[in-house]
Amino acid sequence: MSRRVVLIPGDGIGPAVTAAARRVVDAAGVDIEWDLQLAGESAVKELGEPLPKSTLDHIRECGVALKGPLTTPLGRGYRSVNITLRQELDLFANVRPAKSFPGIKSRYEKIDIVVVRENTEGLYSGIEHFVTPQKDVVESIAVFTRRACDRIVRYAFEYAKTNDRKKITLVHKANILKFAGTMLFEAAARYAREYPEIEYEEKIIDATCMQLVIHPNQFDVIVTTNLFGDILSDLTAGLVGGLGVAPAANIGEGNAIFEAVHGTAPDLVGGESANPTALILAAAMMLSYLRWGDAAERIEKAIREVLGRRLVQTPDLGGKATTQEFTHAVIAAL
Ligand SMILES: NC(=O)c1ccc[n+]([C@@H]2O[C@H](COP(=O)([O-])OP(=O)(O)OC[C@H]3O[C@@H](n4cnc5c(N)ncnc54)[C@H](O)[C@@H]3O)[C@@H](O)[C@H]2O)c1
Repeated sequence: MSRRVVLIPGDGIGPAVTAAARRVVDAAGVDIEWDLQLAGESAVKELGEPLPKSTLDHIRECGVALKGPLTTPLGRGYRSVNITLRQELDLFANVRPAKSFPGIKSRYEKIDIVVVRENTEGLYSGIEHFVTPQKDVVESIAVFTRRACDRIVRYAFEYAKTNDRKKITLVHKANILKFAGTMLFEAAARYAREYPEIEYEEKIIDATCMQLVIHPNQFDVIVTTNLFGDILSDLTAGLVGGLGVAPAANIGEGNAIFEAVHGTAPDLVGGESANPTALILAAAMMLSYLRWGDAAERIEKAIREVLGRRLVQTPDLGGKATTQEFTHAVIAAL
């Protein structure tokens, strides 16, 4: 049966990597009807706003979107469209796997870590203002609700159970952020009791960063706040070859958006050397979500095969292949 999926090409390298992911998904033989919608800079240019209502409406209708990266102007201009999408659609869980690939040089082998990041609040709540007339003091407010702490921790335990993972590490800063930490601990204590088969531990964010760098194989599933998850998932991506190979899923009750961890890569002018692996892997996560697990597995296998051969790799992994050449190799392996 055909399934309609919103496709947002995005900015910078976005159109190149989304086109690649679309070609690979189509080649996998699943029946997807792509519904092209705009967001980000391209939406500003074409429709005068970064997140047109029609884009949100179409995602709500379809329930699923595959999205390229979107530019967020630094310190000025419009608010992050990514954050708005996550909050508007209540996509509360951001799932970011980092898995070692054959053929990619990195410091460690056999890394298999999933960061589950709270995706709707914390320091990304968007509450920021000057508190003095001279504009020399700013308040940036982090909001933590019991509901969001509870559901992200529950999601992590349920994710661990359904994906046969053994351990959850709750990463926090409860020595300083005592109230927010306590809410997370209370939720975690409840679910640790409900899921006794999953080992549970708590770690402070700073110690976690060091441990991830020197002894990463001790981690399995990490559950953490919005800001810490944002930073940690770039770190875990770095453990397995970089942002070019790190996918992400934003999951809510009835909607989901799949994307790469990376941004628009403004330094890759033209975008024809961008590594599309992250978005192709995100598309595979989307297929699993849509219960096309077989196609998802075949896509992942094709990527592993192409990367493992080391013949066709993009410049971020030390190769010379273009986005198109790499995509072509993945489709051939499929
Ligand atoms: N989900 C998203 O839409 C998202 C995520 C992160 C950043 N951004 C936005 O992207 C813009 C640029 O951000 P940035 O420069 O901090 O981060 P970035 O992820 O775009 O780039 C960081 C580095 O990684 C490299 N890189 C990223 N993706 C790559 C790929 N697929 N292949 C090869 N190399 C790749 C880039 O060339 C750059 O050197 C900003 O506007 C930021 O807000 C969007």
